[in-house]
Amino acid sequence: MHFIYLQIQVKNVSRLCHSKPIVTVNGMFPGPTIYAREGDTILVNVTNYAQYNMSIHWHGLKQYRNGWADGPAYITQCPIKTGNSYTYNMTITGQRGTLWWHAHIFWLRATVYGAIVILPKQGTGFPFPQPYSETNLILGEWWNNDVEEVVKQGNRLGLPPNMSDAHTINGKPGPLFPCSEKHTFAMEVEQGKTYLLRIINAALNDELFFAIAGHNLTVVEVDAVYTKPFTSQAILIAPGQTTNVLVQANNAPSRYFMAARPFMDAPLSIDNKTATAILQYKGIPNSVQPVLSQLPALNDTAFALSYNGKLRSLNTAMYPANVPLKVDRQLFYTIGLGINQCTTCLNGTQLSASLNNITFVMPQIGLLQAHYFNTKGVFTTDFPDRPPTPFNYTGAPLTANLGTKQGTRLSKITFNSTVELVLQDTNLLTVESHPFHLHGYNFFIVGTGVGNFDPKKDPAKFNLVDPPERNTVGVPTGGWAAIRFRADNPGVWFMHCHLELHTSWGLKMAFVVENGKGSDKSVLPPPADLPPC
Ligand code: C2O
Repeated sequence: MHFIYLQIQVKNVSRLCHSKPIVTVNGMFPGPTIYAREGDTILVNVTNYAQYNMSIHWHGLKQYRNGWADGPAYITQCPIKTGNSYTYNMTITGQRGTLWWHAHIFWLRATVYGAIVILPKQGTGFPFPQPYSETNLILGEWWNNDVEEVVKQGNRLGLPPNMSDAHTINGKPGPLFPCSEKHTFAMEVEQGKTYLLRIINAALNDELFFAIAGHNLTVVEVDAVYTKPFTSQAILIAPGQTTNVLVQANNAPSRYFMAARPFMDAPLSIDNKTATAILQYKGIPNSVQPVLSQLPALNDTAFALSYNGKLRSLNTAMYPANVPLKVDRQLFYTIGLGINQCTTCLNGTQLSASLNNITFVMPQIGLLQAHYFNTKGVFTTDFPDRPPTPFNYTGAPLTANLGTKQGTRLSKITFNSTVELVLQDTNLLTVESHPFHLHGYNFFIVGTGVGNFDPKKDPAKFNLVDPPERNTVGVPTGGWAAIRFRADNPGVWFMHCHLELHTSWGLKMAFVVENGKGSDKSVLPPPADLPPC
């Protein structure tokens, strides 16, 4: 058991020739890395000294029976108010690898995030050659203006808030941005040695390509699950996802750019800002001009499909892929972007988003409390298993379907049942790739495709042997993804698009997984210091 103290404090930080106060953790940006070992119990005390409500989510930790430690504000807890603290009590079972933590309230995760590194059990190594050393690379976004103000401005207009001003690697944009020579992350390597990079996409709104000039990347893990190793010039990583790669320092000693730039195949807006960092061979002076890296083009859909198609679970005796072969409950959710009426915004309409034509409305108290204490009137459990009207999802826009209903509607799932969920992108406003994250679970991505999901033909092509196991799936632009999981973790679990923009437009819902029979299969009692509403 170990204790970790995180203090939420506002601090001035300068980037891109501007200085501004940002919310930090322990005065650091990005925040501190949390190290733990598989099987550990960690107690993370979060004390809030900032003038914002706060809540921290431990993205990808399963929190078995213990949603109280999950963190999404108004889903599993009320926020930690200014001057208060809360201790997240987490036991890490059956997981090892790279995950991350971030604020889960408003858009505060813009600056409140850090890595979680779970080492394998004592005496257990990696299923790949032991690297010489390792480094975390957290990809993010930076706004020159106050992010909460940027969001409020967007909401007033009923339009997307302004794009970020830079992408970052470990909080630093790199020398392609103004005043950023000194805000460049560099990693020193020795010729002939192999390094493990733990890459995290903490960006709010961009899927990113990442590559290192002159060096291939061998993918060995995604979302803290080992994969069959494969080598690629670049990786693709969606917000919320993590990817571990091995890189061999086997090129001529020099300085090489590492670079991250968005993957954008939706015609909505173009963002081609490139964050860079430096891979520097030992003994090479800083005066050497770094070698430029090659990234896939902004709209390289073919690369994205082929890259994601190469991901496979390791699936060995020690790390089996326990894919549910039989499905108890079949769900089909359409992802829609549309327009809603709005009384508070300037021209009476605002952009909105929906699942099965329902725009999720955040409750005033935590859903998990309401569920546990059986408080009536907070949510309903009538979230539909299917969209109201089937149609050609990825064809021409159907304006009749733009209007969505609002509600705090959840879907009730029987304990230990197996669930298959097909997430279908639609073309109500535009097609776009959506990274969907499920709290409390990993799931298997048994199939993906472009166009409309065909329930007659597509299931025959599912991979039920070694599909990738993740907590966040990139639903292809104008396509679908089918995921399967066993509902063995009772509680209330949030599911949402990890593009913060879409989450705030309502692209979210939650599952209520009922208790099983027996006290070891039900939600644990809430901790005494759970923040009150
Ligand atoms: Cu990483 Cu609900 O989030």
